[in-house]
Amino acid sequence: MRYIRTGSFKRLFSIKRRSFDVQHPEESASTEEDNNETVKIVPMSEPSQRLTWKYFSYEEISDATNNFSSENLVGKGGYAEVYRGTLEDGQAIAVKRLTKAYTDERKEKEFLTEIGTLSHVCHPNVTSLLGCSIDNGLYLIFQFSSRGSVASLLHDEKLPTMDWKTRYKIVVGTARGLHYLHKVCPRRIIHRDIKATNILLTADFEPQISDFGLAKWLPSQWTHRSIIPIEGTFGHLAPEYFMHGIVDEKTDVFAFGVFVLEIICGKKPVDGSHQSLHSWAKPILNQGEIEKLVDESLGGAYDVTQLNRLAFAASLCIRASSSWRPTMSEVLEVMLENEMDKERWKMAEEEEEQEEFWSYEDLECECDSSFSTSPT
Ligand SMILES: Nc1ncnc2c1ncn2[C@@H]1O[C@H](COP(=O)(O)OP(=O)(O)O)[C@@H](O)[C@H]1O
Ligand SMILES: [Mg+2]
Repeated sequence: MRYIRTGSFKRLFSIKRRSFDVQHPEESASTEEDNNETVKIVPMSEPSQRLTWKYFSYEEISDATNNFSSENLVGKGGYAEVYRGTLEDGQAIAVKRLTKAYTDERKEKEFLTEIGTLSHVCHPNVTSLLGCSIDNGLYLIFQFSSRGSVASLLHDEKLPTMDWKTRYKIVVGTARGLHYLHKVCPRRIIHRDIKATNILLTADFEPQISDFGLAKWLPSQWTHRSIIPIEGTFGHLAPEYFMHGIVDEKTDVFAFGVFVLEIICGKKPVDGSHQSLHSWAKPILNQGEIEKLVDESLGGAYDVTQLNRLAFAASLCIRASSSWRPTMSEVLEVMLENEMDKERWKMAEEEEEQEEFWSYEDLECECDSSFSTSPT
């Protein structure tokens, strides 16, 4: 295998995941951010955990998944298949295997990126990597998220409508997970593919950000990175990334805004119609007709205050100008603090006019040719 040298893997496994007995800055009542924002964040209820990784043998994962039987296939993404499995001790796992069709170097690198990134993270709203295996292919082993992805729960017409309480919990939990990645964990992590299929749900509907194949570190002294080719998912891409390949935290903030709209409206970001969710929702948000956004299948059963907060946060996140988008600390403030200071977010008139001109539909013909995105 070209990328994996035994030495680097041994090194990887010799580093135990950092101890998480220390109190995270996030768990204190208030956090001083690097840009002097202060935000109160509700303490997490989960006890801190000490995690180590395990190296799995091929036999272990093959036994657990009943030899990767098709009945256990729970997901197929861009470059991997995911199987449900049960370890000998009864623990439910998800095994992500690099599909044979994708043995090119870039996909292997994405797979290893996912290991490298996840080895640094530990948060209730970020998926937990249990270990990996390089016997007979490349495999990542995760805790199993029994409710599947937000996308499958929200859009499967055979399932009952997701109630408002669950929607709200998913949005707030995802915001906490993203805030952790951007501001709290040891390195600045930009996920680059925040969307409903990459947010998984535990048995009690706690959201977990997953799929770190496109994630990037951002050294603290850098403001942003330029990344070509542009990868991600159409309908979630921030304009500065879409057009110029510029990536920083605000790229994720934009995608998070689209995700929040998807949860409120129950509509897919792109659904085969000629209008993206972003372009459909933006004028409705601007006119303040928030209730028009709400998923009709909720039958009016939602909390108006929570809806207004989420919709306002989403409207800020999807701004074309990245400097006018909030950080994830500010998103949490808007969604959770008692006072909602709308004046603070008012844009100058000329900037507001520029915002009007931007939509995905216009950008489709302007974007760079080195563009590779997945449709959902
Ligand atoms: N830990 C997990 N528990 C349950 N289902 C999972 C888990 N990880 C992935 N899946 C399922 O597999 C799908 C694809 O996984 P993902 O990590 O997003 O792969 P890809 O990088 O190929 O998109 C997800 O949308 C989800 O349905
Ligand atoms: Mg995915």
